[in-house]
Amino acid sequence: MRTETGQVYKLKDYRPTNFVVERIDLTFELDPKETKIVSRVILHRREGVAPDAALVFDGDELTLDSLQLDGNEIEPSLYDVTPETLTIRGLPESEPFEVTVNTTISPEANTKLMGLYRTNGAYCTQCEAEGFRRITYFYDRPDVLAVYTVTIIAAKDDVKQLLSNGNFLGGGNYDEGRHFAAWFDPHPKPSYLFALVGADLGLVEDTFTTMSDREVALKIYVEHGKEGRAGYAMDALKRSMKWDEEKFGREYDLDIFQIVAVSDFNMGAMENKGLNVFNDKYVLADPETATDADYANIEAIIAHEYFHNWTGNRITCRDWFQLCLKEGLTVYRDHAFSADQRSAAVKRIAEIRLLKAHQFPEDAGPLAHPVRPESYKEINNFYTATVYEKGSEVVRMIRTILGADDFRKGMDLYFERHDGDAATIEDFLACFAEASGRDLKQFALWYSQAGTPSVSVSTDWNEAAGTFEVTLEQSLAPTPDQSRKALMHIPLAYGLILPDGAEFDGQPDAGDAEGGVFHLTKRKQTFTFSNVPGRPVLSINRSFSAPVNIAMEQSAADLAHIARHDSDGVSRWQALNEQAMRHLVAVSKLARDGRNLSSAKELAEILIATAADESLEPAFRAQALALPAESDIAREIGSNIDPDAIHTAREAVLSEVAKSGLDVFTKLADGAPTGTYSPNATDAGLRALAGAAIAYASIAEGQPARAKAAYDKSDNMTVMSQALQILAHQFPGSSETADALGNFKARFATDPLALDKWYSIQAMAPGSDSGVRVEELLNSSDFDRTNPNRIRALIGAFSAGNPTGFNAADGTGYRMLAREVVDIDKRNPQLAARLLTAMRSWRSLEAGRQELARQALVSIREAGELSPDVGDIVDRMLAN
Ligand code: TRP
Ligand code: ZN
Repeated sequence: MRTETGQVYKLKDYRPTNFVVERIDLTFELDPKETKIVSRVILHRREGVAPDAALVFDGDELTLDSLQLDGNEIEPSLYDVTPETLTIRGLPESEPFEVTVNTTISPEANTKLMGLYRTNGAYCTQCEAEGFRRITYFYDRPDVLAVYTVTIIAAKDDVKQLLSNGNFLGGGNYDEGRHFAAWFDPHPKPSYLFALVGADLGLVEDTFTTMSDREVALKIYVEHGKEGRAGYAMDALKRSMKWDEEKFGREYDLDIFQIVAVSDFNMGAMENKGLNVFNDKYVLADPETATDADYANIEAIIAHEYFHNWTGNRITCRDWFQLCLKEGLTVYRDHAFSADQRSAAVKRIAEIRLLKAHQFPEDAGPLAHPVRPESYKEINNFYTATVYEKGSEVVRMIRTILGADDFRKGMDLYFERHDGDAATIEDFLACFAEASGRDLKQFALWYSQAGTPSVSVSTDWNEAAGTFEVTLEQSLAPTPDQSRKALMHIPLAYGLILPDGAEFDGQPDAGDAEGGVFHLTKRKQTFTFSNVPGRPVLSINRSFSAPVNIAMEQSAADLAHIARHDSDGVSRWQALNEQAMRHLVAVSKLARDGRNLSSAKELAEILIATAADESLEPAFRAQALALPAESDIAREIGSNIDPDAIHTAREAVLSEVAKSGLDVFTKLADGAPTGTYSPNATDAGLRALAGAAIAYASIAEGQPARAKAAYDKSDNMTVMSQALQILAHQFPGSSETADALGNFKARFATDPLALDKWYSIQAMAPGSDSGVRVEELLNSSDFDRTNPNRIRALIGAFSAGNPTGFNAADGTGYRMLAREVVDIDKRNPQLAARLLTAMRSWRSLEAGRQELARQALVSIREAGELSPDVGDIVDRMLAN
């Protein structure tokens, strides 16, 4: 294991390679312990590079078997090799030459799930970001694009399919008991997009006819017996392919598109050219084992990986600092796709919730970094909410500033100009600047400045003059390594809602505003509206046009006015949510100080009225009923957090809402659609609303009977897991809960993805004693310590999704996570480091917990051999 902690990579140090790769030919002889790899690379010296400059290839835990130049062994004096680098000297000055690298690796021993590894008897690869160097020595960096030919040889008995990128060349018998297959990918690609699969899997097939009438073979490989669960993924794939043609003019470019679902995977999925590899959680679904949320995730991730074919693969990143170039943009595209497939408002609400829940705390804590970082120690640690989700918001802001037409022109120019390139954020922004004639220099700060800007908003209504003034002032607090911040360009969508609920349609007399958007570019700006017929209410940052915190004194009556009348559904939710948040923050502070809690009467009234309003979409009403989570309230309070007080306060509010709305909730509780299950957005919305109503009604009744009846009656996983969660979280000691948990466990004992839900629901059951239950589950026989999904379902759900349990005042939660992180780190550093980020907000805890959290972090630091992944996270979390 590499333990050096010193190496820091910097954006400003970027240099192209000394040699240019023309082609690479790979041959794999698959074997669990001794897979032999022959890599033939054709290169030439880059123009202008000194004739004595060496060729330096990357490796990771490799050993070299032999090395040839144009077919002849290279003299030992002409090369140096370590597990991490291969340096070759004395190479031709200008002629192309061929280097042959022979390595042997053990897929079975590869527990990091990076490079070539085994999962469920299959061979599979994960090369992003730096996994290819665990297979063979190569220029393992995204700006080295090459055309790949791949030959795979394996035993016929247990390896039926031999797959790689691109188009199938041919295959057949090889030697005694073995067969082979060859693949050719005509599109030059970086090594991180290489993929290989050798497996015995079930196959689901379909075709797609592209806009220029080419037929593409679509293949999804899943475990035998699970073919029936791949239908939704296939449908989502075809819809994605069509959508990218219609919305972005992007056509698929190979004869075949394949997806392989595997059960051991570090992330969601991977966009390898023509051969996506997926965590099976994001492929497999049927009504009995998958929830509506699972279906929505599958749709989004299938789309995301498919869209990478253009934003990521055809145009890739020059270096890993530019990761958001492909990820932020592709998330933006998958959001737009899901919005088109479902209710756009409900989709946007979910995005805002997710951004605030994951990205805002990251930006406010010790792990804060710019959307495009300028330095890193371990790139695996930068696949973050900031790069992905804030990166997507930045693209969304470009569209807001430019408008739909110029945005599309900019995208077209980007595709046209940079197809085949390894590009940068500067390249990307230049396309939008050129297409629109706008200067995006100040806007570009969104890529380089970390932290969530704050905008304070004040308004002034002059009744006599009929004028309304809006004053905006921006600020941005220091973040690690950035003590001074420049002023940003913040596009804030707004509306003025008149007393009768109509929207004022006049423009401000002065100031930089257009099309319902204020452009805040200075520290402080005032916008004045004239001839306003009555006192308006300002609806600001509509649909979350900018990822900022708004500070504004707005009365409950004004928020209610927005919630009732705003023409934008997302804004109506924002106002409701703001009102709920204010109340929850206030009562949480009272609870922390041991004072009596104030009544939630007003809030309850508006929530219940919204729940009962049949003119609104059911999914929207469900979103309104979902109060800010305990972690949201903690984020809003920001410091001296007492998770128990927040829990007490939130439960009290839930109970008050539940009791005063019992009639409404009782009616809504039966509203889930009957008949054949369909994952469509309308039915999912009905189930969400009914589920919320069952939860409230159960709380009001103080009895598990209603939830138990829903559990017993349920014929799909959505309703079943909703009911199980109400039982486990609200009625933990009841016999009904024990029954349901036992029933669920028995029913899904052999279905890992369903069983993961059983673990998660229990891991998130609130209460300071829930850590005891988690310890028991950790020791249960089917707790697989090597499967990332299972680890995330228990340890991840507990530490990131159970504020009272994880933050138990005696520190047991922190110590448990520390112990598990150190243990998991020995096998899978990437996973261990990600689990540890659950502690990123530790400094905002009250003093007692803060000290215990610090001790746990220090114990990790002192645990001895840490991976660079965990070492980097723990160091940044402890740095001042
Ligand atoms: N590029 C993948 C995506 O679509 C992310 C990813 C998958 C990844 N597996 C990984 C990143 C392993 C790092 C390591 O977003
Ligand atoms: Zn991605």
